Amino acid sequence: MDTSGFQPLDHQRLAPDEMQRRAQALNVEAQRRRSVREFSSDPIPEGVLDHCILTAGSAPSGAHKEPWTFVVVTDPVKKRAIREAAEEEERENYSGRMNEEWIKDLERLGTNAEKSFLETAPALIIVLRHAWQVAPDGEREQCYYTQESVGIASGFLLMALHHAGLATLTHTPSPMGFLTKLLGRPSNEKPYLLIPVGYPAEDCTVPTLERRSLEQLRIQES
Ligand SMILES: Cc1cc2nc3c(=O)[nH]c(=O)nc-3n(C[C@H](O)[C@H](O)[C@H](O)COP(=O)(O)O)c2cc1C
Repeated sequence: MDTSGFQPLDHQRLAPDEMQRRAQALNVEAQRRRSVREFSSDPIPEGVLDHCILTAGSAPSGAHKEPWTFVVVTDPVKKRAIREAAEEEERENYSGRMNEEWIKDLERLGTNAEKSFLETAPALIIVLRHAWQVAPDGEREQCYYTQESVGIASGFLLMALHHAGLATLTHTPSPMGFLTKLLGRPSNEKPYLLIPVGYPAEDCTVPTLERRSLEQLRIQES
């Protein structure tokens, strides 16, 4: 086997009790993550988002194509423009594009077409999925499993932001094509998620939801 282009793996084997402790601690932390729709406008400390975006960029991707870009919007004028365009799509969604079952499923979340958090949150992170990439010579390059890859990177991003003490909303004011235009991004970068980020508002509430138990989540094949 040709070993050029390979390096030793950086891995530390942990003692079983340390593994238990870490796995449990991360679960406790993960269970506290909630989707937040009421934000404080307090700014995010410099540099925190960069670390979280680097964490997202550490995700695995099909053939290591890293088919993602993360656009951070903090400019109030841009945030307003995004809110207005998102609300326009959402008004159509709530008044006919979503079917009755969908509208009913959303009732317990208390959501509607009004998206003031898109202006209140100090930052919006727009995750863009590369449907293809352009080589330096202008040739179009294939990307593989981009939905899966960007989904995983987005999960990393949400956990990193939560771990850093920030609140997020996973938002999809679909169709999200308006973002490509508003952000002036090339046509190969498809809007995937719009994530408002910041501190929760002081009086923030979230819907009471139950998560599936381990018995429901895990099937043991013996
Ligand atoms: C792919 C995806 C799209 C979502 N889109 C929206 C959305 O457009 N608006 C919204 O308020 N919440 C949206 N959510 C958030 C879900 O409603 C939320 O994750 C779910 O109710 C569970 O709540 P939790 O995140 O607090 O655990 C979305 C979540 C996912 C994973």
